[in-house]
Amino acid sequence: MTSILTNPLRVGLRQERVITPQCLVIFGASGDLTHRKLIPALFELFRQRRLPSEFAILGCARRPWSDTEFRDRMQEALKAEINEHLQAWEQFSQGLFYEPVDLQQTDHMVRLALRLETIDRLRATRGNRTFYLSVSPEFYGSGCKALASAGLLADPERSRIVIEKPFGRDYGSAQNLNRIVQSCAKESQVFRIDHYLGKETVQNILVMRFANTIFEPIWNRNYIANVQITAAETVGVEERAGYYESAGALRDMVQNHLTQILALTAMEPPGRFDPEAIRNEKAKVLQAAHLADENDAWKCCVRGQYGPGGTSSHPLSGYRQEPGVNPNSTTETYVAMKVFINNWRWQGVPFYLRTGKRLPKRLSEVVLTFRRAPVHLFDAAGGAPTPNQLILRIQPDEGAEIKFEVKAPGSGMRSRPVDMAFNYDDSFGEPSDEGYVRLLADAMLGDPTLFTRSDEVEAAWRLYTPLLALIEEAPWQLPVHPYEARTWGPAAADSLLADDGLSWRRP
Ligand code: BG6
Repeated sequence: MTSILTNPLRVGLRQERVITPQCLVIFGASGDLTHRKLIPALFELFRQRRLPSEFAILGCARRPWSDTEFRDRMQEALKAEINEHLQAWEQFSQGLFYEPVDLQQTDHMVRLALRLETIDRLRATRGNRTFYLSVSPEFYGSGCKALASAGLLADPERSRIVIEKPFGRDYGSAQNLNRIVQSCAKESQVFRIDHYLGKETVQNILVMRFANTIFEPIWNRNYIANVQITAAETVGVEERAGYYESAGALRDMVQNHLTQILALTAMEPPGRFDPEAIRNEKAKVLQAAHLADENDAWKCCVRGQYGPGGTSSHPLSGYRQEPGVNPNSTTETYVAMKVFINNWRWQGVPFYLRTGKRLPKRLSEVVLTFRRAPVHLFDAAGGAPTPNQLILRIQPDEGAEIKFEVKAPGSGMRSRPVDMAFNYDDSFGEPSDEGYVRLLADAMLGDPTLFTRSDEVEAAWRLYTPLLALIEEAPWQLPVHPYEARTWGPAAADSLLADDGLSWRRP
């Protein structure tokens, strides 16, 4: 029998790799993520002919659906996407199955194991399984235990487990969860997912930095004055108040997505392109990161919450008026903060992180601002030359941009800032895959490069511990400042940078 790990683990990202026969089991199959992201990503992989014919998807949740009902519901939810590909859907959906499972019930797990054996025979999936935990985070630990007790994680060569975010609620709970998960499976079987790492432009941070010689020599405190990392969204909390009320922007976006971008931007070059070499460097840099002021954490963080806004024809409700939100909620929908990295490369360079919902634009980017030229020889717009900037545009408008000064036309010697831009669309023409397409394929291939290792996830939580403690114990020190929907967040966030003589980029 071929095991899923006969694909070399260290395949790297260099060549198109082949997913071996297997069954992907999705727990939480009746939930939002399954029909919004997972099934569309798997269908895309199918259409790209990257799934083997010996492949099956087993949806599991508590609802008593049949295979047909599951297929119909997925088809209904994906109507718009699959309308043009009905024939492909017909073929794809034959590999979709459903089993009602409550992870807490031993007899359900016994039934699940038997069902998997039947699917192995039917679809020739050879006992290879990837279990995807898309359940409520409080069931991650018990879910792993249930799988382990049913013997479903026993063979590290044939079974893997994918765990959604948030992985824990703070440093202590993440450590606990890691302990439980590691008592059930080997670390090599565990894939902690962060969909930002599936984005082409996030991976491009590594390529820009380490496939070129022009950036790395200046990628340090001698040349870089500060770094801004932004993930701005126009959407509000949508239908997710139940989850978001207890998460807030710090847990929902900063601890995972922004921190992963921070790690890729700031890490040292790995010795080789290998999952562990990369994850070692990411963990190391996160272990060296700390809030600008750990004793008085309130000085380096601003929380905000969107209020009503929009126009008279398109009014937008404030967060507290959203369905399911406590009308007195103090959950933050916006965070801005200042972080330092205590190592030779970055000592003294502030990293500013900011994220928010209901901002004027959907935009994620990394902006590296270089030190000013030491001597001003020319007249410049605004009196002094604009500092050079390298902007890595993560979304939308994926690409990169350099801002620098040139001679303004005319008889004098005046300088003006200009841009030089690279755009993925113009250069490559085809849209890149959704993050989940890449990450699901990698998990099924057993390539952990783009997944978060246990020490990384713990370091990411540890970094924000002083803030989480303050929110818990002395929330008045970190109040949520209201901001009008479709504005760039509270004024206090501007002051955070103004105090350092800087301002946020407003693209
Ligand atoms: C998710 C968060 O992880 O990322 C959401 O839970 C957020 O609140 C989303 O909207 C943003 O992802 P993207 O890919 O749209 O930037």
